[in-house]
Amino acid sequence: MSAFMDEVEKRNLSDIFVMTSGCAGLCSREPMATVEIVKQPPVKYVDLTPEKVAKIFAQVLGAQIRSPQDISLNLEEIQRYQLIGFGSGIYGAKHYESLLDLADKLPMVSSRELTPVSPREVFIFSTAALTGESKASDDHKALRNKLESKGYAVVDEFQCKGFNTNSFLKYIGGMNKNRPNAEDLSNADDFARNLMKNRQRVKVDDK
Ligand SMILES: Cc1cc2nc3c(=O)[nH]c(=O)nc-3n(C[C@H](O)[C@H](O)[C@H](O)COP(=O)(O)O)c2cc1C
Repeated sequence: MSAFMDEVEKRNLSDIFVMTSGCAGLCSREPMATVEIVKQPPVKYVDLTPEKVAKIFAQVLGAQIRSPQDISLNLEEIQRYQLIGFGSGIYGAKHYESLLDLADKLPMVSSRELTPVSPREVFIFSTAALTGESKASDDHKALRNKLESKGYAVVDEFQCKGFNTNSFLKYIGGMNKNRPNAEDLSNADDFARNLMKNRQRVKVDDK
């Protein structure tokens, strides 16, 4: 709650109302947040854990979440999508091996398939112990290089802190407890909305 209030204050927002609620009947999925936008159905955010970042992107962009293992079984499927997000936790300054392996297996985006309006675009995201612009850029480098070498255009990148139980940290309750938190998720929501806005703008500009 205080993360939401801080965010409203920090951004000087006057059209947002933050309030607590009673039990929504999903206590096992706490912490939860419901976002209600006028004239749109309310959206409940549950399990505020690392995967939640992907769920927010999927929700905002109207996308599906798929595992690298699942997509690897049907690589042709990837040809159907115009915008794809690739993300995971960071392990040893890189994304999960399974995601890097998937990037290696992806078919090349052939120039024949590109239209002036929508080349195959991707975005990269991660949760990590430590974050920052150059840290994210370094952490994402291996995946970015693989995707670019296949002809994908990386349009934007997102990173936030994630609960970390690496090494001895597991014995002391971990690091970044409860991350991603409400503020991280609000940033993820903004990121996805901006992505959508920029893509719509590109389409309009190209008309
Ligand atoms: C074995 C291991 C290695 C990690 N290596 C890094 C690292 O190099 N840099 C970093 O910022 N975080 C590192 N982390 C922290 C994770 O990126 C972070 O906890 C992430 O949210 C984990 O995502 P997951 O819960 O989906 O696996 C590491 C965590 C583990 C367990």
